[in-house]
Amino acid sequence: MTVTAESRALRRERAAAVLHANDAGSWTKASPRLYPHQWSWDSAFIAIGWAHLDVRRALRELEQLFSAQWTTGLVPHIVFRAGPGDPYFPGPEWWDCAVSPAARNLPVKTTGICQPPVHALALRRVWQLTPEALRPEIRPRVQALYPKMVRWHRYLATQRDPERSGLVTTYHPWEGTDNSPRWDRALARIEVAKPGPYTRLDTSELGDPSQRPTDWDYDRYLWLVGQLRECRYDDEQIYRQHPFLIKDVFFSAVLVAANAALLDLADLADPAATASDREDLARWAERGRAGLAGRFSAESGLCHDYDVRTGEDIRLRTFAGFAPIFAGTADAGQLAAQLRALDSGDFCGNPLLRWRLLPSTSPAEPAFERHNYWRGPVWPVINWLLWHSLGSLGCSARADEVRGDSLGEMATAGEFAEYFDPFAGTALGSPQQSWTAAVALDWLASG
Ligand code: DGY
Repeated sequence: MTVTAESRALRRERAAAVLHANDAGSWTKASPRLYPHQWSWDSAFIAIGWAHLDVRRALRELEQLFSAQWTTGLVPHIVFRAGPGDPYFPGPEWWDCAVSPAARNLPVKTTGICQPPVHALALRRVWQLTPEALRPEIRPRVQALYPKMVRWHRYLATQRDPERSGLVTTYHPWEGTDNSPRWDRALARIEVAKPGPYTRLDTSELGDPSQRPTDWDYDRYLWLVGQLRECRYDDEQIYRQHPFLIKDVFFSAVLVAANAALLDLADLADPAATASDREDLARWAERGRAGLAGRFSAESGLCHDYDVRTGEDIRLRTFAGFAPIFAGTADAGQLAAQLRALDSGDFCGNPLLRWRLLPSTSPAEPAFERHNYWRGPVWPVINWLLWHSLGSLGCSARADEVRGDSLGEMATAGEFAEYFDPFAGTALGSPQQSWTAAVALDWLASG
């Protein structure tokens, strides 16, 4: 789909209006009502969007997020910044992160889990988009953020990978893709999930519960938070006793790409990037690539997650299977197999799809649900990562298609929605989702 110059300007204006409407001054609501606080990976994509409007504001977004970094290096998945007029559940009292010494002196309340580390990709993009005249002013701010990002990656490469497998262990479905069928079996093992009385706000806010996780899921999500709280969010204790430990190939792939992004920025960040940081980043990236290679199935052409507690492979066809692409694999055979899988009938080649975009779960999976959150819908940010990775891998024609189809999907649906029905192409989830508008701004400027 071609984007004419006129419609491009108009779309840019509409996307920018979403960011301005959700702007809280120094941070951005992930969406106006459903997600009124600062979310971690949302913030990184949002910074990319801001960079097209105001690079100073883009940096501020990341600085605010990293001001809530724990002493362990963890960057929390939500920073609770909205006031009482913006209700959200579960709020800070459910998490009670003050039980952890690593969070005790923070200026704000946060959750105690994290999300995929796309932040370094954002920092690199913000720098690329910084006009020459502003570089002397922006560079010291990049230098100040850099060691914080290294600490964040160090936390993931060590505390979240005590086995040094190159694969990050996640503790909770909210560490990325909430109700993905990837977690179904691990959640089903939890027999007694009695988190205590609670009232969900998300389903009443959205009006259509079929687009959100079920109450069965929520019982388990909240009960797992209780387990983490009991461990005082201490990684060693969590590793000893937590029932949900998954080697997540998507999360791990993002860390590989993010390590490469920090290496790209190392000269710029000098002297903030020490020689030993550079060595660590290179080692983590290498270990991550090797870890992912070990999870790759030549038969399916996909990478598979691994359940640490049961020792089982999680052999499902979801977007996460394309971890080698997201990590920028250097293996030509793997890349060819991934590209075949991507355009096969299981994914983008499925004839029922409205747009040739990567759905969160393959329509060929029994667990597929076209309207339900991470169980089928198309997520623009995932397709942004796909576009970005394909471009870096030299597959620019396929990358251009992802970009064109994504812009076509948003324009036709008439909404910067959280996610989209892969068959009808209609908007789902929250309207005016900040990270969707942000990636639209990046795509509109990139064609
Ligand atoms: C939600 O509120 O649904 C979020 O995904 C939790 O981070």
